[in-house]
Amino acid sequence: MDIVKLKKSALEEIKKATEAKALEIIRVKYLGRKDGEVNKILRSLKDLPLAKKKKIGPAANVLRKEIEMALEKKIKQFSVEQKSSRLDITMPGKRIAVGHLHPLTLMENKIKEIFLGLNFSSVEGPEVETEYYNFDALNIPANHPARDMWDTFWIKSKVQNQKSKMLMRTHTSPMQIRYMETHKPPFQIIVPGRVFRFEATDVSHEINFHQVEGLMVGKNVNLANFKYVIEQFFRQLFGPHIAIRMRPSYFPFVEPGLEIDIKLGDKWLEVMGAGMVHPNVLKAVGYDPKEIQGFAFGLGLERLAMIKYKIDDIRLFYSGDLRFINQF
Ligand code: PHE
Repeated sequence: MDIVKLKKSALEEIKKATEAKALEIIRVKYLGRKDGEVNKILRSLKDLPLAKKKKIGPAANVLRKEIEMALEKKIKQFSVEQKSSRLDITMPGKRIAVGHLHPLTLMENKIKEIFLGLNFSSVEGPEVETEYYNFDALNIPANHPARDMWDTFWIKSKVQNQKSKMLMRTHTSPMQIRYMETHKPPFQIIVPGRVFRFEATDVSHEINFHQVEGLMVGKNVNLANFKYVIEQFFRQLFGPHIAIRMRPSYFPFVEPGLEIDIKLGDKWLEVMGAGMVHPNVLKAVGYDPKEIQGFAFGLGLERLAMIKYKIDDIRLFYSGDLRFINQF
């Protein structure tokens, strides 16, 4: 094929091409190393007389340049067209998957919000505790039958001569001691946190769950103050018409001790242990029980979340089942 014809057909094919793939085929056809038309011409030069060589050689090289440039131009045109067609500002946006809070986190946040509004501070304590803070300082000495109220995960320790055995805290009450040891009354705190019980699981029991401890200490703190605070709390959480009941109960670290029920339908449901901080506990932290008094309470976060969100099995909270989690 002569050069003029070759140029004409190459440029025409490039012009007609409608996609990048077609251009690549054209490139191979004309500029391909082995069987490209331009190379065929260059290869045939050696059999030609000198005069012809001098003419056709440079012409073939010019043709190569021209085809290369035409291809390049067309490719650029394609990419511009593609880009502009991609920029359709009326297209619906891509939906971004947003995470959400676990029902227990929602509940904890709500409880914090209410108590912060009542001028309480929120503090946290360790999940691994010593026997002293979890039991002894709370007026629960070793071998006292009250220890049976808390089935405990004890931790084996390799540390020799350790004064106090380690355990997974069975309640948030040890933070009463830790906080009183390091602060001067008056103060009022809540302590949200995870606690652990060595128990068989069922719809209302888990080996770990969450409590919110409450502690208000000062010179004239009394049960009437407690009643006010706790009524405020439940009204803000469940609405102004919630019915609350206080019953006498026993916990070694309070005297008198109470249990608080709320009324759901025609049933009373126990939601909280409470009482006036026991004189022995005040003594354990170096306070004078004749000078200083306080009330303490402990509530189960799961229990309240189950009531508020109508959840019938505590194990769902920790199942990781998205069909459950995604409802919140
Ligand atoms: N710590 C107790 C429990 O886990 C609850 C409680 C807290 C009771 C504070 C009285 C005062 O059962």
